[in-house]
Amino acid sequence: MTIRRRLAITSAVAVAIAVAGASLASYVAVRASLLADVDDSLRAQMERVTQMGVRALPGPGLVRRGARFGGPPMYSHVVTPTSTLAAAGGGQDNGESASDVRLPVTERDRAVADGSAPAYFWDADVHGVPIRGLTGPLATGVAIELARPVEEVQSALASLGIILLVVTGAGIAAGAGLGWAVSGRALRPVTRFTADTEALADADDISRRLPVAGDDEIARLARVFNSTLDRLESSADAQRRLVADASHELRTPLASLRANIEVLQQPGSLPAQEHDALLRDVVEQTEELGALVTDIVRAGETEVREDEAQDVRLDEVVAHVIARVLRLHPGVTVRRDLSPTVIDGVPERLHRLVANLLDNAVKWTPPGQPIDVTLHDRVLVVRDHGPGFAEEDLPHVFERFYRSDEARGKPGSGLGLAIVRQVAAMHGATVTAGNAPGGGGIVSVTFPGGR
Ligand SMILES: Nc1ncnc2c1ncn2[C@@H]1O[C@H](COP(=O)(O)OP(=O)(O)OP(=O)(O)O)[C@@H](O)[C@H]1O
Ligand SMILES: [Mg+2]
Repeated sequence: MTIRRRLAITSAVAVAIAVAGASLASYVAVRASLLADVDDSLRAQMERVTQMGVRALPGPGLVRRGARFGGPPMYSHVVTPTSTLAAAGGGQDNGESASDVRLPVTERDRAVADGSAPAYFWDADVHGVPIRGLTGPLATGVAIELARPVEEVQSALASLGIILLVVTGAGIAAGAGLGWAVSGRALRPVTRFTADTEALADADDISRRLPVAGDDEIARLARVFNSTLDRLESSADAQRRLVADASHELRTPLASLRANIEVLQQPGSLPAQEHDALLRDVVEQTEELGALVTDIVRAGETEVREDEAQDVRLDEVVAHVIARVLRLHPGVTVRRDLSPTVIDGVPERLHRLVANLLDNAVKWTPPGQPIDVTLHDRVLVVRDHGPGFAEEDLPHVFERFYRSDEARGKPGSGLGLAIVRQVAAMHGATVTAGNAPGGGGIVSVTFPGGR
């Protein structure tokens, strides 16, 4: 069942209860007041009769009919302790016969006559006409029954009942209709929200968001929904980034490992001593590869965690990377000038930073040209003698996947400098790229002052 139908039914039931309750209460009140009027007139008549005394009355057994001007007829009948049913015919008043009326005489009426019971009101049905009566003591051994037809009262109550039933029915219908209309209006934002959400789910596009308007509960819901999508999107992004970074970073060490193993595969290609050194190198490389994988998995972190920070000799890391580059690219020359420098950081990450800088330098260095690497005053500078950066590329080279047009002919994915900047930022360092005065690309990393 829809919320809308539920609301409509609820409001119809609420209106029904209210209208029916009000109708019933007014019916009961009107009925009580009309019957009280009848009883009052009977009581007043009883008072008058009592004042007039027995002599003004017909003999026992005769019903006498009197009528006040314009009012309903009033019957009176004297009862003695031995009376049975009121006899037909008899007394006359205002020239009218009451022969057609027989008032019932009960045990209780006789008891009132002999003084053993007090006056009381009663209801009876005479020839199909409802009447209301009052039996009261008149003198010793004599009581009088006064009675009035209450047909008019009853028919008035019956038509009131019909009117109230109709009103109640109309109230229920109006309540249901209004409930349906109002709930439709009140639920319009919910309907729209549902449609928007469904459209979003169908679109299969995680970057789309729900429109947010206003400040109501639905707007809050939409905002929560959107921020959940934000988190989802950024975690999907992080995942994509991890996969891209992993393949980028693993490519070079895997290639170098493969080259070493290929050399080892050819029997007798190396003297025994170099063969052993190469084997040791391979083992070391696989260990480094393992460390690299661990590091890449943590690549999403944007700050160096305190438990993994340590004093790192940056100059030693740089020397280690240079040695690796020279082994992999025997034709390359690297001129180095490294001052001993201690950095508070993570060795594997600093290793990645330097490796990416040298990787670019090697890629862009023409054959026979040297690469200059210096480390002084906590500033690491890698300079090559290639074509340098194009001016229009400089603002973008640190963006992920950005590659210049010239770079398209060379291997790479445009992640290297982005990783350099990320690692530098983790260590509080800044990176700048530019061109050396004599030509060639130059990238400097400035580490914050020592402790
Ligand atoms: N030493 C350099 N000389 C000239 N241009 C460079 C140099 N280093 C980087 N660039 C330019 O900056 C761009 C981005 O470099 P980045 O290292 O991020 O990507 P890449 O080297 O092309 O690919 P990847 O590093 O993913 O293998 C390169 O495409 C290139 O255009
Ligand atoms: Mg690169």
